[in-house]
Amino acid sequence: METVNSGQIDDMQNPGRDLSEQIKAVTKEIHVRAENTQLMLSYQKGQITLPQYKLLLCSLYEIYKALEGEMDRNASHPGVAPIYFPQELARLETLERDLEHFFGQEWRKRVIIPAATHRYTQRLRKIGEGNPKLLVAHAYTRYLGDLSGGQVLGKITQKSIGLSSGEGLSFFSFPGVSSPNRFKQLYRSRMNSIELTKEERDGVLEEAIMAFELNIQVFNDLQKMLSVTEEAYGNQEKAETPATIPPSLSIVQLSLGICVALATVGMGIYVF
Ligand code: HEM
Repeated sequence: METVNSGQIDDMQNPGRDLSEQIKAVTKEIHVRAENTQLMLSYQKGQITLPQYKLLLCSLYEIYKALEGEMDRNASHPGVAPIYFPQELARLETLERDLEHFFGQEWRKRVIIPAATHRYTQRLRKIGEGNPKLLVAHAYTRYLGDLSGGQVLGKITQKSIGLSSGEGLSFFSFPGVSSPNRFKQLYRSRMNSIELTKEERDGVLEEAIMAFELNIQVFNDLQKMLSVTEEAYGNQEKAETPATIPPSLSIVQLSLGICVALATVGMGIYVF
């Protein structure tokens, strides 16, 4: 996990500043690292492929299922209530729609979850149960990211993959948010209204760095899975993910690809 550097400690020692300013400052460096992961670089170059996008959707689905499950469960907790905006922000249903679009009605059986995604969801559930005040760090990292760079990523996805009229792109669309910038201002002011002791605030700042780190690990795992399976299937099958293996592939090729991918991502693939 990411260690806290001296600049970040300065922010933690400046309790007079608003939480929204501090959280942005302490995650500045790791935001750059997140932008520079191979997956995000592919995005920025407009080179996102359909297999990449489909795998990303699977992981996002798991992450938002855990995040929104914990937010719902703790909706009236004083550390969550001010930043609880299910109408405006909830992503779970949008992801379900997108997954159904790409994988069909039986999408639940075809979703693949890398180990890093599983670790991320475990962390979300643990803090949702034991320390809900830390949820703000995760909600901030995902939702404000989705409302910032995420908006550009949606347009790039549509163009790169050649999707028409928003099909499979619900995740990027926030019909309940007419102005992302104004909404982000409201969100920041709500974050700043959460009452936190110095220790709790430091905990939130560290958790935000961890939230970014968990996202980076997810992107890296997805990238590894894709590279390995692409190699195993060869260029001809490059356009398909392991979740959508064409029936023409032999069982040997199939097993080889999945075994190599499993070994590479370290722990295993979680299918539900
Ligand atoms: C291609 C990758 C990315 C690009 C190009 C990008 C770009 C941006 C931009 C332009 C902003 C607005 C900055 C501002 O208003 O001052 C932003 C904000 C943000 N991004 Fe990213 N981003 C990327 C990836 C990510 C990732 C992977 C995460 C987290 C998982 C993330 C989380 C955030 C957050 C939380 C904010 C809000 C910062 C704040 O206002 O406090 N971003 N991003």
